[in-house]
Amino acid sequence: IPILRTLANSLTSDKVTRILGVLNGTSKFMMTKMVDEGWSYEDALKTAQELGYAESDPTNDVEGYDAAYKAVILSQFGFGATIDFDDVSHKGITNISTDDVAVAQELGYVIKLVGDVREVESGISAEVSPTFLPKNHPLASVNDVMNAVFVESIGIGESMYYGPGAGQRPTATSVLADIIRIARRLSDGNVGKPFNEFRRDLPLANPADVKSNYYFALDTPDEKGKILHLSEIFNSEDISFEQVLQQKANGTTARIVVITHAMSKTQLKAVTEKLEAAEDFTVVNTLKVLSN
Ligand code: HSE
Repeated sequence: IPILRTLANSLTSDKVTRILGVLNGTSKFMMTKMVDEGWSYEDALKTAQELGYAESDPTNDVEGYDAAYKAVILSQFGFGATIDFDDVSHKGITNISTDDVAVAQELGYVIKLVGDVREVESGISAEVSPTFLPKNHPLASVNDVMNAVFVESIGIGESMYYGPGAGQRPTATSVLADIIRIARRLSDGNVGKPFNEFRRDLPLANPADVKSNYYFALDTPDEKGKILHLSEIFNSEDISFEQVLQQKANGTTARIVVITHAMSKTQLKAVTEKLEAAEDFTVVNTLKVLSN
């Protein structure tokens, strides 16, 4: 995707506030095949490797490392920030179940591995995680091996850059463009200028400032008072529910799905610890939700 030169040139006069990206072709391809066509994880990975999408160690793709490296680069080009790979919290697609996918569908979302770099009051935050995207969000329709970067900025507003995220010809085209650029600089005699000249001091954001909605899938014994207990736990951390769904309980176990209103990373950590300590709840999954 021609995003880096776009950020360095066309958006140089703008102030970027958030970059959301579907940044990994392999996991995109795999999720599309698994969700839309019912392929197994193993078959989807094998085909992604055969098509030349996956890195030689596919862990980088499916565990979110590749997308996290790209989030580091986007934070430099979009925000002038110098952050380390270790500053990007990353989670891959390996823990997404068909139940998560089905509930997302029922509630009007699709799940994609999304890189999210944003500037909040206290600094910059960068993370990669499987995310519930509202079906009407432009990133929700990015499928197969396509990738996209959605930029929110003060000047332009919203813009999206879209193209194949992996594969022989797209990769070769990008690499060759870099080589041509280097050759031009050699012939112009201006070698040594950095590709990206945007640099500023931007600390890492305080987790209390980084807010998102979240999806929780929880299992609990099918007994009275569980929803009340769940409400007490969330209420004790000042977290408000946006949607609550209890799937048909089977007399033994009930699956409860909660989508919260916006809450901070600090609240997320605290409520997760309380849920894990509570004997009557098992946290099956927690995923970020992009609000409408
Ligand atoms: N393995 C990468 C991907 C391709 O699947 O997106 C290079 O970025």
